[in-house]
Amino acid sequence: MIKILVIHGPNLNLLGKREPQVYGKITMEEVNKKLGEIAKKKKVSLEIFQSNHEGEIVDKIGKAKAKYDALLINPAAYTHTSVAIRDAILAVGIPTVEVHLSNIYAREDFRHTSLIAPVAKGQISGFGMDSYIYGLDAAINLAQAT
Ligand code: DQA
Repeated sequence: MIKILVIHGPNLNLLGKREPQVYGKITMEEVNKKLGEIAKKKKVSLEIFQSNHEGEIVDKIGKAKAKYDALLINPAAYTHTSVAIRDAILAVGIPTVEVHLSNIYAREDFRHTSLIAPVAKGQISGFGMDSYIYGLDAAINLAQAT
């Protein structure tokens, strides 16, 4: 069975309450429930992890080699700052899909740079909760292709 690791970065645990005009009213639990339903239908296994701590995310990715077939990650604010998360993805070599709820290119300049995008297979940004749904689809296809 294909195994996908889903990582939510910092502050995504606050979805629903956090800047709803930018991120919508959907909670992380609702996102996870939807992903779980899709995974069940497609007969893939999902592990979902959220952390507000860069090192925990680095550790989780570092231990993912051979355990998961693809990584779906919303690195949140670490998208724009984390060489460590980028290097962890490179180190394990797992096909990675980067997702964002908001369109990071339509926001402040500092959000226009993703340190993760060059080491991901691709990036989906700006479709709210649907970014995760499209991202999961892409991650499953990548996993099946490898
Ligand atoms: C985000 C975009 C990031 O710039 C921001 O720091 C987040 C969420 C998104 O999903 O739109 O925390 O990754």
